[in-house]
Amino acid sequence: MDDLRDRYLAAVAGAADEAALEEVRLAALGKKGEISLKMRELGGMSPEDRQIAGPKLNALKDEIASALAARKAALADAALDDRLRTEWLDVTLPGRPRREGTIHPISQVMEEITAIFADMGFSVAEGPQIESDWYNFDALNIPAEHPTRTEMDTFYMARPDGDDRPPHVLRTHTSPVQIRAMQHQGAPLRVIAPGRVYRSDYDQTHTPMFHQLEGLAVDRDLSMANLKWCLEEFVRAFFEVEKAELRFRASHFPFTEPSAEVDLRCSWKDGQLKVGEGDSWMEILGSGMVHPKVLQAGNIDPSQFQGFAFGIGIDRIAMLKYGIPDLRAFFDSDLRWLRHYGFAGLDVPTLHRGLSR
Ligand code: DAH
Repeated sequence: MDDLRDRYLAAVAGAADEAALEEVRLAALGKKGEISLKMRELGGMSPEDRQIAGPKLNALKDEIASALAARKAALADAALDDRLRTEWLDVTLPGRPRREGTIHPISQVMEEITAIFADMGFSVAEGPQIESDWYNFDALNIPAEHPTRTEMDTFYMARPDGDDRPPHVLRTHTSPVQIRAMQHQGAPLRVIAPGRVYRSDYDQTHTPMFHQLEGLAVDRDLSMANLKWCLEEFVRAFFEVEKAELRFRASHFPFTEPSAEVDLRCSWKDGQLKVGEGDSWMEILGSGMVHPKVLQAGNIDPSQFQGFAFGIGIDRIAMLKYGIPDLRAFFDSDLRWLRHYGFAGLDVPTLHRGLSR
């Protein structure tokens, strides 16, 4: 018994980790462990012998069990100490002042516009950039042979040979998000959808990928008057001016009826844009009352609900607001350009603090 005790206590003390300790436990106290087997032998002993051996064996078993538990706790403590020694971070190190990147003006402008429309009860909706031609065209009342399909210089995704389902497209505008939003949320609703759009076009004022923001409001009593107020509020807030004057010019889009292109009164002095004054007009967006067929495509009953919608080119109004001359610079990934035009990462635009400071 003394020999057993010495051997196992030594083995417990010598176990270097939890796995080794577990082996010691199994060897002593496991089903086929040495001490367990000895306990089983008690049954074959004479009552006198058993009375002496039984308590001794039990005491030994308890002693080894508590040695195991103590060693296990000690190993866990040591492991924790070890981690604390290696996994540390010097929080007293000074911050690194050099800003490698900043917030891109496009992101900034998206945040600004989102803040403005959120204040008017619009939430942000999203849709995929690879879109079916139904969402991108048909659902928006642009049928197969409509000239808009070709005017939009669409990128078509390839299909494997023999697969003649209609191809997917890189969405040419954010308008398909209107349909998705109506289908998912039903009426009434108010959403904006900022995002990337694609057209096969490249020059000083066109890039194959650019950004739009779609707006859609659907309710029981909406008219052009609501659209006009909403856009005036937006322009005033966005350009951070007291008053902004808009001109609605009759136009045509397949997905709105009536449709209007919207111009903003402005002046250019010494290459500086002033909004709200002057004799120039600058086109900034397309808009109109949602076509009944478009409401239907979104599963909304046009005899019950009306909607207004608008689409804004984000890149263009970012260039106007921040005096950026060339569209292509947005996508050159030039850090010097970004440091010049970029915004600090923690300056999140809000209406109460001021959008752009
Ligand atoms: N989707 C149009 C374009 O890309 C822009 C547009 C015009 C969107 C009028 C609208 C709208 O929602 O009502 O040229």
